[in-house]
Amino acid sequence: MSELTQDHLSEQQYWMQRAIELARLGQYSTKPNPNVGCVIVKDGQLIGEGYHPKAGQPHAEVFALRQAGDHAKDATAYVTLEPCAHYGRTPPCAEALVKAQVKKVVVACSDPNPLVAGKGVQILQNAGIEVETGICVDEAKTLNFGFLKAMSTGLPYVRLKVASSLDGRTAMASGESKWITGTEARQDVQHWRAISGAVITGIQTVLADDCELNVRVLTDVDVSTVVQPKRIVLDRQGQLPLSAKMLQNPETVMVMTPFRQELADLGVIQLTPQPLNQLLQTLSQQYQIYDVLVEAGATLSTAFLQQGLVDEMISYVAPTLLGQSARAMFNAEFSKMAEQRRFELVDVTQLGQDIRLRLLPIQELI
Ligand SMILES: NC(=O)c1ccc[n+]([C@@H]2O[C@H](COP(=O)([O-])OP(=O)(O)OC[C@H]3O[C@@H](n4cnc5c(N)ncnc54)[C@H](OP(=O)(O)O)[C@@H]3O)[C@@H](O)[C@H]2O)c1
Repeated sequence: MSELTQDHLSEQQYWMQRAIELARLGQYSTKPNPNVGCVIVKDGQLIGEGYHPKAGQPHAEVFALRQAGDHAKDATAYVTLEPCAHYGRTPPCAEALVKAQVKKVVVACSDPNPLVAGKGVQILQNAGIEVETGICVDEAKTLNFGFLKAMSTGLPYVRLKVASSLDGRTAMASGESKWITGTEARQDVQHWRAISGAVITGIQTVLADDCELNVRVLTDVDVSTVVQPKRIVLDRQGQLPLSAKMLQNPETVMVMTPFRQELADLGVIQLTPQPLNQLLQTLSQQYQIYDVLVEAGATLSTAFLQQGLVDEMISYVAPTLLGQSARAMFNAEFSKMAEQRRFELVDVTQLGQDIRLRLLPIQELI
């Protein structure tokens, strides 16, 4: 490890920030692979850059090395995630960096994938390349919450989205819910869907809204480049109507249901009814779904929260009152303050007339 001076640190941060920006260009298209960016710098000049655009396509380092060509010799490579050490659909990036004879590799975030974990760094160090890790690590982790969590725990990162009125209501008593929030907030939801491997909902939401839960419009991004999330309906009684709008694209629908031949005929993946924690494990381990967005009514949202399965709540609050007969966002019965569920507020953003709160559940009871 080399010693970090202030100037040295800021130069490293500058280039790593550029690599992080590049990584973000793949945020809607790389899943289930992680978002990774790479820049190659020599004598203070950028000589190559790249990001991983899509599973099956070259990794960030390969694009950056191609651009740098022979100039990569004795240069410094900045990579947001530890270079891979294994033969997947592409050869190991750590070996490509060795072959290009870079002098130094700066890594933001180690890769907990058991196929890589420390091995990428080892290959570089064995070849005499200086390696420094941990530069901008917190920001780099935000690129891949799901991938990092799944690789280290076997479970996906779960975001729970709720749109509510000022009085905490999410639908009228009749089930009518269009619309509580305005267009900017609803547009923002498209981003969270687009970075997710799956959107999970409950059967009652599908019956009430006939929702599609797909990605339709993204700001400044061509939607055809997005890897669409799977739409997963939890339907333990097998009530999903074959006329449901989401079944117009059955290849991206999964249903947790007692087996139904008519869904099989459509090519819909069926999951046997199982507890939520087991379902999340199945999604991560069998289907490489590492980021999950729950967009359900109070029944299923409460179940996820009460079982401690939510990593982050994304709460849109609209400046409107829906009254006491409208449905609450959370339907647990608490009688004592000690039972309350608290969150840590990590971000507040105004979207048109609404606000978006990003909240991390505090799991310990107060
Ligand atoms: N404002 C918002 O953000 C928002 C978002 C989505 C929906 N909504 C509104 O919410 C309303 C529907 O809410 P809802 O509470 O009736 O329905 P829901 O939460 O969408 O669906 C509930 C159903 O999910 C199924 N389920 C499967 N596994 C479950 C589990 N482990 N725990 C709990 N449920 C499980 C249950 O049906 P089975 O027992 O048959 O499996 C249950 O009845 C609609 O009016 C919709 O418009 C609002």
